[in-house]
Amino acid sequence: MSNIEKKIETQTNKISVNQDNKDKVFVETYGCQMNVYDTELVKRILTTANYEIVTQIESADVVMLNTCSVRDNANRKVYNRIHTIRQIKGKENTVKIGILGCMATNFRKNLLDDSKLKIDFIAGPDSYKQLPHLIAATGEQQEKPFDVTLSEFETYSDIYPMREKGVNAWIAVMRGCNNYCSFCVVPFTRGRERSRSPESVVEEVKQLVADGYKQVTLLGQNVNSYKSEENDFTELMRQVSDVEGMERIFFTSPHPKDFPTKLLTLMSERDNICNQVHMPLQAGNNRILDMMNRTYTKEEFLTLIEETRRIIPNVVITTDIIVGFPTETEEEFQDTMDVVKKAQFDSAFIFKYSERKAGKGAPSTLAAKRYPDDVCEEDKKDRVIRLNAIQSEITLQKNSAHIGETHTVLIEKKGSKKSNDAYVGRNQGNKLTIIADGDYQVGDIATVSITGATPHALMGKPKAV
Ligand code: SAH
Ligand code: SF4
Ligand code: F3S
Repeated sequence: MSNIEKKIETQTNKISVNQDNKDKVFVETYGCQMNVYDTELVKRILTTANYEIVTQIESADVVMLNTCSVRDNANRKVYNRIHTIRQIKGKENTVKIGILGCMATNFRKNLLDDSKLKIDFIAGPDSYKQLPHLIAATGEQQEKPFDVTLSEFETYSDIYPMREKGVNAWIAVMRGCNNYCSFCVVPFTRGRERSRSPESVVEEVKQLVADGYKQVTLLGQNVNSYKSEENDFTELMRQVSDVEGMERIFFTSPHPKDFPTKLLTLMSERDNICNQVHMPLQAGNNRILDMMNRTYTKEEFLTLIEETRRIIPNVVITTDIIVGFPTETEEEFQDTMDVVKKAQFDSAFIFKYSERKAGKGAPSTLAAKRYPDDVCEEDKKDRVIRLNAIQSEITLQKNSAHIGETHTVLIEKKGSKKSNDAYVGRNQGNKLTIIADGDYQVGDIATVSITGATPHALMGKPKAV
């Protein structure tokens, strides 16, 4: 029996509240990759406690929404969804609805106090091991069961996620955030930073190779702030990269403050560490960056981009940007446009600032407390449109520059939107690549000539060998 199998057996002994009753559970995921991974943990915890996971909401006795709270529209989606679920389940409405994830921590009271929603239980991101008990306690008393305690220690390193089949596996190596960027709700919804031991990560990566995964993505709210007793993130990456058979390693989401030269050098030296970094800029003006509490200036950011490109010449760099942060003027927005032109990102996620006011009894973000949300909706929209226009041009230029190159593409599926014969995968820089034809299996690494480009993908054909 492998260590991982032993772990699962110990978990089975620990969580056994639903022995006689195989309730059917449906889990739906919103938000970031960390939530995708957490849903996989939840599925393992529940199947170990004898629940059955189903893929159709119609057949579920328990429906859980693993929620996101990062922007207001993420919140609203969940409210709408709860009403729809009640409709799908019809008049009798015996289904139990549970809220997990970031909204659970911040909007627990709002959710439970809303009599129309009829939420049955709530579990925050550090309380998933309590889920079998929370579900079992529903209906027992007037008060709805909940647990939203944030832990300084919980890393779930003793739970082997029930992963989706596919080529990529997620592993959260650290959780939480200590940075308190002033716009961000995550430190409040997910609590303090904590990291798994490198041994537990390496052991799990070996198991992933044995299970046939070709790619692993290390996750964390600030993945490169990873810190165990002896190791920093660079050392962890070195150890993961040493695992034989793990062909591709990505990591997300990093913070620009934790990119030492040795990490970039390691990335350039190792074939199985992919040449892609997400470098969230957030804003290109120093006054706004300071108000955001991002801890770097635009000059320092651009120097880091330059260093990254110097050390890893073919690196793919992506970013996140917020427009319309409180008091941002047109001139200050122009600074962001300027940095985007200079940095030449491969792609960018551009968001309108969304004020994160507290739910009942929960804290607001620092920006919501300190600054009025005073850039009007029209200006925010207009800034998103202008920034997207520039970035799309840059993305197309960047993608077009790959035409004529040879890339390695990890095949994810057969059949694209346009052709059943095409294959869809991602190259070494995580760019979506459509291969016109060929003869591949999912999980193959194809050698491909790049023949075309759009702002969203590269086109290729099998390279004759
Ligand atoms: N480091 C985190 C970031 C989470 S939020 C992680 O990966 O888990 C992802 C992105 O959402 C941020 O980089 C930021 O650009 C955006 N964002 C966060 N809070 C926001 C807000 N209040 N309004 C608009 N965008 C926001
Ligand atoms: Fe939020 Fe900043 Fe932490 Fe990322 S680093 S989760 S943006 S506070
Ligand atoms: Fe959303 Fe929480 Fe992730 S707020 S982005 S699900 S960390």
